[in-house]
Amino acid sequence: MITLGLNATFHDSAAALVVDGRLVAAAEEERFSRIKHAKRPLPFSTWELPFNAIAWCLQQAGATLADVDHVAYSFDPVRFADGREDLRVGADGSLRLPAGPVPSDLAPQDARAPWDSPWDGLFLASVLAAPGQLADGAPHHLRSRLLPAGRAPRWQWQFLDHHLCHQASAFLAAPWERCAVMTLDGRGERATTTYGRFADGHYQSLGEVCMPHSLGLLYERMTTHLGFLHSSDEYKVMALAAMGQPRWADEMCSHIRIGAQGRYVIDDIDFTALAGPPRRPGAALGALQFDLAASLQAALERTVLRLADWLHGASGERHLAMAGGVALNCVMNARLRDEGPFDSVWIQPAAGDAGTALGAALWADARARAGQTPDAAQASPVAAASASTTVESPAIAPGSLARPLRLAPRRWSMEHAHYGPQWADEEIEPLLRWAGLAYERLDDEAMLASRTADLLAEGRVIGWFQGRMEWGPRALGARSILASPIDPAMQARLNELKDREDFRPVAPAVPVERFADWFTPAAANGGESPFMLFTHQVRAEQAARIPSACHSDGSARVQTVDHRTNPRFHSLLEAVGERTGVPVLVNTSFNVRGLPVVCSPKDALEAFFTTPLDALVIGLFVLCKPGIASGAMTGAAATREAGAVIEADPRIPTDTRPDATPHAAPLPLGELA
Ligand SMILES: [Fe+2]
Repeated sequence: MITLGLNATFHDSAAALVVDGRLVAAAEEERFSRIKHAKRPLPFSTWELPFNAIAWCLQQAGATLADVDHVAYSFDPVRFADGREDLRVGADGSLRLPAGPVPSDLAPQDARAPWDSPWDGLFLASVLAAPGQLADGAPHHLRSRLLPAGRAPRWQWQFLDHHLCHQASAFLAAPWERCAVMTLDGRGERATTTYGRFADGHYQSLGEVCMPHSLGLLYERMTTHLGFLHSSDEYKVMALAAMGQPRWADEMCSHIRIGAQGRYVIDDIDFTALAGPPRRPGAALGALQFDLAASLQAALERTVLRLADWLHGASGERHLAMAGGVALNCVMNARLRDEGPFDSVWIQPAAGDAGTALGAALWADARARAGQTPDAAQASPVAAASASTTVESPAIAPGSLARPLRLAPRRWSMEHAHYGPQWADEEIEPLLRWAGLAYERLDDEAMLASRTADLLAEGRVIGWFQGRMEWGPRALGARSILASPIDPAMQARLNELKDREDFRPVAPAVPVERFADWFTPAAANGGESPFMLFTHQVRAEQAARIPSACHSDGSARVQTVDHRTNPRFHSLLEAVGERTGVPVLVNTSFNVRGLPVVCSPKDALEAFFTTPLDALVIGLFVLCKPGIASGAMTGAAATREAGAVIEADPRIPTDTRPDATPHAAPLPLGELA
């Protein structure tokens, strides 16, 4: 059974493909389109489906749209419109939508809340058009790959609750058979925070908080106030917070009133009245901005700790799985790990909206394998809740804790994030030759680790392109820029190389076996941190040895690397340790400011030649900038240096040239059954 999950509603559009309970492929559209976040969260962009990501996921499984049994879309238009006078839902679930904006003075009285948009009709029309568009609206260059001539789709389509998809992306991917689950984001249809419990093969909702009360939107407002791009730059606010004092945290907390059953209400917080006017983008940053960020960060952490306390008691579970954009806040996650009530905390690496594609696919698959019809699965498991304006307003209809929903036994959990495209050496080398580049081909894995470690030990900054691309926003050793943390100037050098702000920290990677030697705590969460989603403190006795890996408060956003799931990166770290005594590298995403992480070899070459990177290690090939010692050079440029005239080699297949599609050896589906 093939299930395609889609996120396309707001931003970070993505696709994920689950075959008989196992994730086969997952990727964000931005990596193919080269537009960061794929699109901005506007009603005018809702129609855009992640066709490139869909086509690649299907290719990875050797399938087309005609083979897909279920398509699960991570937004429920009926739930969004329910109760809206200007977006009427019929008794049969049908929607009557205005074709254009409805000005407030023409909308039915009280039809819209202040946060609703006059363009919501257009927005929902785009959501509802998605099934037809997937079947009949693919870009021409992808049509034959998506749906061969003469074939027709036969899928069952499901619109699923957005936060249910965030939840499923966490508890159906986490390493446990039972856990509590909490999601926090800007907003879904209405919910902004949800709680649930997964146990004994059943999922049960434990409630939700709805608009306008949103910790995610509060953080977005602060991001805008500090002069950054909301729904994109929230991690910059988190980084600034480490440099400030939370002098307004108590006052902010006084505006976040926490009630019973995980409910909370956020009163309007006027940041301008509190600390002055917004910062203009690009203006200098100072103590005021640091303190504002620190105050909101502290208020967020205190609030989420209290919500977790309630969820711990309500669920009776020892483990917590999380998703939603707020769950990308590593500092908050660390406080939950260290001070929260749960034994362990697991965050799905694509915690933002892209991850709902994964959750949609996992949920639809698990329900279908359990013999549940799509209609039953589609029913919102959460009792409808109106936006509450007081703590006393119930977020859960009294006495209506949702019934448990049965799911099929799990066959998969997420041990790594390498579910994206990859290219084989046999595909990379013709591209290097075709482009006329000088390169060194290494003999084997040992040479790869050795040669790359030599460069890093010399203080070189390298682009590292290996294996399947990461799922989620973090580079985890497949599309990374790597450097040694020994040089105190390396952080500034990397920020300059990536053309980004000076205050941005860079994160360390360490072999999981050596985690405790360098960072603390190291025993929590099973003694690993594979997705770089928790901060740790650098051990005091080691801090001076890795100055570029330490943030201003002595913390570090650590990634542990396991030989089982990323053997090349693990071997490289060990080889670096043999040379320098420090088996730690700083690891930042392989991209430049404003662009997504590189996906293809062509992207990697463009980034390499348009930045001051010293070397590129791509598969078994090493390319060095002029003046940097290289091994035996091969390739067209080497020949050119000898005086030969080189022209494009007609024997090189066109599908390995710059627009090449990813290597996609179809998986034997029979083995997945
Ligand atoms: Fe979301």
